[in-house]
Amino acid sequence: MIDNYGRNIDYLRISVTDLCNLRCVYCMPEGGVEKLRHGDILSVEEIAEISAAAASLGIKKIRLTGGEPLVRKGIMDIVRRTSRTPGVNEVALTTNGTLLAENAAALKEAGLTRVNISVDTFDPGKYKEITRGGKIGDVLAGIRAAVDAGLEPIKLNAVLMGGVNDDFIRPLIAMTDDADFRVRFIEIMPIGECADWNKERFVSIAKVLEAEPSLEYAGTDGVSKLYRKPGSKGSIGLISPISNHFCPTCNKLRVTADGKLKPCLHSAEEIQIRGLHGEELAETIRMAILSKPFKHALAGERRSRSRRGMSAIGG
Ligand code: 5AD
Ligand code: SF4
Repeated sequence: MIDNYGRNIDYLRISVTDLCNLRCVYCMPEGGVEKLRHGDILSVEEIAEISAAAASLGIKKIRLTGGEPLVRKGIMDIVRRTSRTPGVNEVALTTNGTLLAENAAALKEAGLTRVNISVDTFDPGKYKEITRGGKIGDVLAGIRAAVDAGLEPIKLNAVLMGGVNDDFIRPLIAMTDDADFRVRFIEIMPIGECADWNKERFVSIAKVLEAEPSLEYAGTDGVSKLYRKPGSKGSIGLISPISNHFCPTCNKLRVTADGKLKPCLHSAEEIQIRGLHGEELAETIRMAILSKPFKHALAGERRSRSRRGMSAIGG
């Protein structure tokens, strides 16, 4: 469906849980978030219903996010139901990869098309520090399992943090040398846990081009600017919500784990859709699409207006 600014909204992101087995420093407080009560989380049935209503309005692609979607009980059912929704031709999942080794084959079997795996460093010590306890070996095993299961093309997402993982740019780019990994570097956004970080941490993705000057521009893909290392099999995407905001091409709608529609990631506006069914549900989603703002608040204010952190929205 086309919104008020001519954008074709065909992409729905659904957060299936606000819980996570990691505690990344920019995303979660050290003690974790207060657990939503089981009944506050959308049921598999409700997720299927929302997906169908959204598909009737032109949503073609669904991405399941978290928290960490693989800690959600019933994730396989959610994948199965969403991927069988008429009109939906792609169901992808964003994961930290730590539980992927044991789940990749079953996810593929349930109908998942692709995975995005978040990894901010390959250094075991640094990984443990950034995620407050995660093991990089689990992620590497997860990446291999995703390749074996054919959940491709696989995107590897890294959030750049000045003074923390600048040394990760070249090793991550090297992943594209021999395989079709789509590596993406993302500027960290001042939302939730990292909203008040020192500004030195918020480095521009221009750093990537400084670290690897051989990259050649190769067009755009949604919100990323694509680059390629000559002779490599994969690609590098640079995503810059801060230095070059991409609201004019935003095609997304988000649903939080507790069933609120967010027309814009950085706005405080949330629309309750739990308890709505049929025509009423579809009409409310339609109104939400029409209320998508022209652009978000980050550019002018350097701070998100969202009342939730990323773990409750899912990126
Ligand atoms: N800025 C940018 N990306 C973020 N993520 C979490 N918090 C932020 C932030 N403040 C990313 C994670 C993961 C995805 C779910 O969202 O790294 O890739
Ligand atoms: Fe978990 Fe992802 Fe947040 Fe890290 S960024 S704590 S992996 S939800």
